[in-house]
Amino acid sequence: MSSPSKAAPLGSPQPLGVGILGAGPVTQAIHLPSLARLRNILEVRHIMDVDAAIAESVAARVGANHSTSVDALLGDPDVDIVAICSPHQFHADQVIAACRAGKKAVLCEKPFAMSGEEAARISTVSEETGVPIIVGAMHTFDPGWLAAEANWGDLPENVHTIRSSIILPPNARFEDFASEIITRPASGTPDYSNVEVIKDALRGGIMGLAIHDLPLVRRFTPDFEDLEVLQARHVRPFGYVISLRSGKQGPRERIIELRAAMNKTWKPEWVFEAISDDAALRVDFTPSYVQAGSAIATITRRAGNQNTGSTTFGPFEHNGYEGEWRELAQLALGTKQPPSAESLINDLTFAIAIADATVDEAAAEHAQHSNSHAGARS
Ligand SMILES: NC(=O)c1ccc[n+]([C@@H]2O[C@H](COP(=O)([O-])OP(=O)(O)OC[C@H]3O[C@@H](n4cnc5c(N)ncnc54)[C@H](O)[C@@H]3O)[C@@H](O)[C@H]2O)c1
Repeated sequence: MSSPSKAAPLGSPQPLGVGILGAGPVTQAIHLPSLARLRNILEVRHIMDVDAAIAESVAARVGANHSTSVDALLGDPDVDIVAICSPHQFHADQVIAACRAGKKAVLCEKPFAMSGEEAARISTVSEETGVPIIVGAMHTFDPGWLAAEANWGDLPENVHTIRSSIILPPNARFEDFASEIITRPASGTPDYSNVEVIKDALRGGIMGLAIHDLPLVRRFTPDFEDLEVLQARHVRPFGYVISLRSGKQGPRERIIELRAAMNKTWKPEWVFEAISDDAALRVDFTPSYVQAGSAIATITRRAGNQNTGSTTFGPFEHNGYEGEWRELAQLALGTKQPPSAESLINDLTFAIAIADATVDEAAAEHAQHSNSHAGARS
């Protein structure tokens, strides 16, 4: 470990020190390229991975310390900001440990946690320690999205249709464009006749992919108590088609459509839409892993029977990944207010509610299908 400490005092022009827990493809292909563009404000100082060879090799790329222990990274005084990029089952405990270590800010890759119980534990520690936390839902930091938010007026109150549709090639293709990935787990062919496989795949799709846009959906459905699943299907090899309804009892019913397919597409597409009788928002995001500027947002309005035209926002120079890191620097320096832990918890609760309801619906449909096939055979 280097000495004397390089930790940046508040307001100092010296870069803030970054420590990363988990140095897999997301660290290598997403965060290190983003941080390379922000060297004047952020410096990677410590890379930790349970695999010593990965920790050492990734740290060598950026001239950082390396270790295989969470405690070693959290105890490193050169680390001001901690990014948690380990597999999801470790997120909650590592977020809590980073807060307790008194770091200046924490980025947790999505999903933030996997259960309401974990979310409540994080919330308590975040309140106790006051350490700002953000979740790596990168679209919420995309300047194209933020410009739309500043200009969409009363669309959230009047929206009736919300759509997130994603068509992407598998992550590995993007990872390989961006970096030379060290070690990748082998994958087998799932047994789709087993309902547990379908349930796991759907839950994985929601907590792993849809979760990027669920905080955006929630901006248009803040009240999701009466969420109802109209349709839920797993799409092979990886994807989903899900229709939901909310607000049936209230002044405005909303239909939410979530669609994703990860296949051999040559044309990736990631679109978010929110539509009311008088206005429509469409946001075209760059695919995950791609560092090619921001999303482009278009708002189209109607007055009476007239289309009053469209306004386009973006593309801006940086994307949501870089936006996350810029925000972390501001939070660590105390120049920006952190998001409330409550809103992060609500985003997670929303995702878990959708995952639970969707998995139940898919299991019921699978059982019905199996029964009708058995009936046809008898
Ligand atoms: N924001 C995005 O666009 C995006 C895209 C894909 C995945 N993700 C998320 O990023 C995270 C990392 O994804 P990945 O594809 O790099 O995952 P991965 O599982 O391939 O790699 C994670 C790394 O963490 C290491 N590791 C395992 N246990 C650990 C522990 N207890 N502590 C620290 N490190 C540990 C592994 O050795 C591996 O090198 C996941 O939470 C994933 O959901 C985000």
